[in-house]
Amino acid sequence: MVFPDHSHYAIPKRSNAALLLSAVSRLGGGALVAFMFIWTIWSSFNPTPITRTLSALAETSHTNLGRHDSPERNIYDDPNLSYALGSSPPMKGWNEKRQEWLKQHPSLAPGAPTRIVMVTGSQPGPCKNPIGDHLLLKLFKNKVDYCRSHGIDIFYNNALLHPQMFSFWAKMAAVRAAMLAHPEAEWIWWVDSDAAFTDMDFLPPPLPPPQHGRVFLLRNSQWALDFLDMWASMGPQSPDYAKWGQTLSSVFKDKIFPESDDQSGLIYLYLKEKWGEKIYVEDEYYFEGYWLEIVPTFENITARYMEIERNVGTLRRRHAEKVSEGYARVWEEQLKGKEDLRRPFITHFTGCQPCTGNHNRMYSGDSCSDAMIKALAFADNQVLKNYGFMHPDLHDPSTVIPLPFDYPA
Ligand SMILES: *[C@@H]1O[C@H](CO)[C@@H](O)[C@H](O)[C@H]1NC(C)=O
Ligand SMILES: *[C@@H]1O[C@H](CO)[C@@H](O)[C@H](O)[C@H]1NC(C)=O
Repeated sequence: MVFPDHSHYAIPKRSNAALLLSAVSRLGGGALVAFMFIWTIWSSFNPTPITRTLSALAETSHTNLGRHDSPERNIYDDPNLSYALGSSPPMKGWNEKRQEWLKQHPSLAPGAPTRIVMVTGSQPGPCKNPIGDHLLLKLFKNKVDYCRSHGIDIFYNNALLHPQMFSFWAKMAAVRAAMLAHPEAEWIWWVDSDAAFTDMDFLPPPLPPPQHGRVFLLRNSQWALDFLDMWASMGPQSPDYAKWGQTLSSVFKDKIFPESDDQSGLIYLYLKEKWGEKIYVEDEYYFEGYWLEIVPTFENITARYMEIERNVGTLRRRHAEKVSEGYARVWEEQLKGKEDLRRPFITHFTGCQPCTGNHNRMYSGDSCSDAMIKALAFADNQVLKNYGFMHPDLHDPSTVIPLPFDYPA
C-alpha cells in the first residue's frame, strides 16, 4: 500500500496544547475537532508485494501459504487468551506474540507494517428512527467503498461485546477484540458509524497515525492493549466510573453531563498521564470536518474539481477501479496550494444520531438526514465514476446518468 504525499495538507500550525484546548472548549457543543494520533514504536519490515493469481491461490490453499492456519502452537492455543477488555491475567508480550504468529504465517508477513483493519459498528437492535437503518446501511456502504479502494479489511460489529459498555464505550471492546483477531494487521482504525468518507482517494500517512475520539488509528501493540484497558477503566463497567465522572467534570469545566465519557477521558489521559507521550495530536491536515460547515460547500467543490478535469486530460481517462491510486496522485499534484477547494477527508455527523433520531435540537431531523444523503451522494459520485455513472443531483441519490466518454471535456 502506498501512502500519498500529503505535505500540502498543511494548515497554519498551532501548538498541540492550543488545539487540545479548543477541542476541550468544543466538547460542550459535541463537536470535538481535536486531531489526535496515537502511536508506538515503529517496527520495520521490508514490505514486498505479493502477487497471486486465483489459480495460484487455489493450488496453495491447503498449504500454510494461503489462508490456512499453521499447525504449530501459537497465541490462540493459550487458554488464558482473552479477547475482553480488562482481562485477567492481562495480556503481556503481545508485540512478540504477534511477531511469532507472523513467522508462522509467512504469506501474511509481507505488507504487515502497513496493513489496516477498519472497525466500525452500530447497535444490536433496529433503529428507532424510521430511516435510521437505511442511513446506517448507506454509511456502511461508504466505508466498504473506501476500504475496497485502499485494500483495507473491514469489520462491522453490531454486538455489545461488553454488556455494560454501551454507546460510545462499546467501540473499545470491539477494537480490543479486533487487535487479537488480526495479528496480521499493524493498525486498527476505528471509525464511528455516523462518519462518512468524503474524499475516497485520500489515505492518511502511516506515521504518525491519526487518532481522534471518534476516528482513531491504533497500532496493534501491547501499548495499545494497555491503553485501551486504561481508557476503558473510565467506563460504566468500572468500579471507578463515578469517580472518573467527578474528575473529568472538575478538569473540563464545560463538560455538559456529569458522567465520564470517552472523549474527555482520552483528553485527560493525553494531558495528565504518561499516555500523552505516545498520543500525537494531528493538526497538519484537514482530517475530519464538521458537517454543518462542509455540506453546503459540496456543489462548489464539485464544480472546482470538474474545472480541473476539463484542464487535465489524464484525469478524464477511464480506468479500472484497481488502478485508481495513480490517478489520485495526479489529483494531488493538481490540488497543491489549493487547500480551500479540497474535498474534506471525513465528514462527521456530530449531533445527528441517525439511528436513534435523538439529534441535537439545534438541527432538525430533516436537515441531518438531508445532509447525510447529500454527503453520501457526493462520495458515491467518486465511486460511481469508475463504474461509468454519476448522480447529477446530490439531493437525489435515486437518479444516475451514464458518464459520456472523455467527460467532462
Ligand atoms: C493462566 O493464568 C493463570 C493465572 O494467572 C496461571 O496460573 C496459568 O499458569 C496460566 N496458564 C497458562 C497456560 O499460561
Ligand atoms: C460557492 O461559490 C460561489 C461563487 O464563487 C459563492 O458565491 C458561494 O458563496 C459559494 N458557496 C458556498 C456555500 O461556499
